[in-house]
Amino acid sequence: MKAKTIILSKKFQGYPQETNFKIVEESLPQLKDGEFLAQAEFLSVDPYIRVFMKAVGAPIIGEQVAKIIESKNSKYPLGEYVVGEFGWRTHTVASEKPGDFFNLPPRLVSFGDLPKSLALGALGMTGVTALYGLQLCEPAAGKTLVVSGAAGAVGTHVGQLAKLQGCKVVGITGSDAKGHRLVKELDFDAFVNYKSEDFEKKLAEATPQNIDCYFDNVGGDVSSAVLHRMNKFGHVVICGAISTYNDENTKAREVQTPVKVNHLVMEGFSVTRWRNKWNKAIDDNLKLIQEGRLKYFETVTEGFENTPDAFMKMLGGQNFGKAIVKV
Ligand SMILES: NC(=O)c1ccc[n+]([C@@H]2O[C@H](COP(=O)([O-])OP(=O)(O)OC[C@H]3O[C@@H](n4cnc5c(N)ncnc54)[C@H](OP(=O)(O)O)[C@@H]3O)[C@@H](O)[C@H]2O)c1
Repeated sequence: MKAKTIILSKKFQGYPQETNFKIVEESLPQLKDGEFLAQAEFLSVDPYIRVFMKAVGAPIIGEQVAKIIESKNSKYPLGEYVVGEFGWRTHTVASEKPGDFFNLPPRLVSFGDLPKSLALGALGMTGVTALYGLQLCEPAAGKTLVVSGAAGAVGTHVGQLAKLQGCKVVGITGSDAKGHRLVKELDFDAFVNYKSEDFEKKLAEATPQNIDCYFDNVGGDVSSAVLHRMNKFGHVVICGAISTYNDENTKAREVQTPVKVNHLVMEGFSVTRWRNKWNKAIDDNLKLIQEGRLKYFETVTEGFENTPDAFMKMLGGQNFGKAIVKV
């Protein structure tokens, strides 16, 4: 059996380009006891790939939703779907062995009528990140919460959960069009486009009572500006710093002064911290979706060979909600 795999053909420098990727063929071995053969249906393209993918010649890392098309493991029956850390490849011989990045074994996908691709977003790692990460922000009714990267996979999820907890939610986005969607479709209270010339003035107008909670997906200058508007004893949660991923020379303003003057609590996290209660978050998010209280958004690119393109577009802000590839 032959599989197609996308490898890193050249080390990333700045924004990824077509030349960083190459499609190669792999010969897969016969299944041994305990193994199964999975055929990719949806691939995930995530910002962490830009940060952690360093080994030239190695398959690009990432999660996928795949159909089991052969099995020698009764826990993974033929015809079922799994989400696993199989990387950007069309077919994978897998077992119960945990993947290298999140250290989780392949998990069966069973969301009833909901799309299986949600296992890569709202009902997967992204949703776990949003649910537990937001708790560190200590959201509560009446507080003002700002989320950056607001129109992305994590951001759309965080903003909606914060609204459910009674926060006033302001999203920071890279375009007015995305911001208007957040307000219209997700009930955000306001948005600020970080690319507008008077970003700081608009941020001040959108947060007249300053900011109690900041869920930070982007870092850099945007986040420095937010920190200067925090209320005393506010909570800042660092989920990511995508503004720095393609820019090794970033020099954001210093943050120590606002952290000190405003007595801020600043905490970073990696979602792997919640491996032990991963499935609980997925159940909680599933319930919210089934009750109609949480919406999910996907930007879907068709075709395995277009996976690098989907990844580059996501880094460039051309997605709303979770960026995925339909193989
Ligand atoms: N801590 C964890 O365990 C964990 C887990 C998952 C994700 N994350 C982090 O969470 C963040 C969001 O991830 P995601 O999967 O939800 O991706 P995403 O937000 O769906 O997609 C990335 C978005 O980042 C924005 N962006 C790109 N360059 C930017 C820049 N220079 N400044 C500001 N925004 C920029 C773009 O939106 P605009 O059009 O608005 O610019 C783009 O749509 C990332 O930083 C990621 O590393 C962390």
